[in-house]
Amino acid sequence: MLVSGKEILRDALEKKYAVPAFNFTNMENLQAIIDGAEEMNSPVIIQTTQGAIEYAGFEYLADLGKGAAKRAKVPVALHLDHGTDLGYHLKAIRLGWTSLMIDASKCDFETNVNIVRQVVKIAHVLDISVEAELGVIGGKEDDIESDISIYTEVHDAVKFYNETNCDSLAIAVGTAHGIYKGEVKIDFDRIREIKQEINIPLVLHGSSGVPEDMLGKAVESGINKINFDTELKLANLKAMRKFIEENPNIYDIRKVFKPCRIAMKEVVIKKIKACKSYNKA
Ligand code: G3H
Ligand code: ZN
Repeated sequence: MLVSGKEILRDALEKKYAVPAFNFTNMENLQAIIDGAEEMNSPVIIQTTQGAIEYAGFEYLADLGKGAAKRAKVPVALHLDHGTDLGYHLKAIRLGWTSLMIDASKCDFETNVNIVRQVVKIAHVLDISVEAELGVIGGKEDDIESDISIYTEVHDAVKFYNETNCDSLAIAVGTAHGIYKGEVKIDFDRIREIKQEINIPLVLHGSSGVPEDMLGKAVESGINKINFDTELKLANLKAMRKFIEENPNIYDIRKVFKPCRIAMKEVVIKKIKACKSYNKA
């Protein structure tokens, strides 16, 4: 069933687990997410970046996402991931997205606050939740890219929340978007300190490649939404390459996609276990 972002995150906050949030661009990708969530009886967030919307088309992705969510046996929220352009937020609201992220983290503090407030003002009239980001998460995801990481300061997070009234907050605590080049180090104390000061759902981005036990510890420290993208893409591609290499003469694309969907579903199930969201639907 399609549910609001507020509802899905409220439950996670109360019961101290994280809702896994997976990016999608096409049908197979989306089916793997929903199948995995249903098998684990887990709520799930399906999310689209602006890049995914450009690739697939706004209306097309809306129909795909809402159609899958409405048919699902578990709660599903449709979320705009890393929205940077107010036009996308407005159109997403009109087309039925139930949760929005406004990412103005590249701007200075005051500008970030002002941009987030604009989105919050509109979204809250319609009871749509808004995720904001404070600090800089390194790495690359679509058009969002940074060579550096700037950890979120506790006092800044408190001030930011008080001034914006955002519903959830993505914080920079050591993870990075894309494929990790070095060892992952997460500042769990920082998560705990921020959570102690502002008891709202905190969001972990750049979670592909983070060992499962560290994800579990992040949940225990106060994270209530964990975003995954790269690992799904890698699983998809690996399965596709393997199938094509082993079956060079098969041209039925459905046969190619089948193992890809299975491989992505396995990743989804693994991440749901790490988020402790199984049997919470
Ligand atoms: O917003 C999406 C996530 O932060 C994805 O990060 O590609 O490192 O899993 P990832
Ligand atoms: Zn992200």
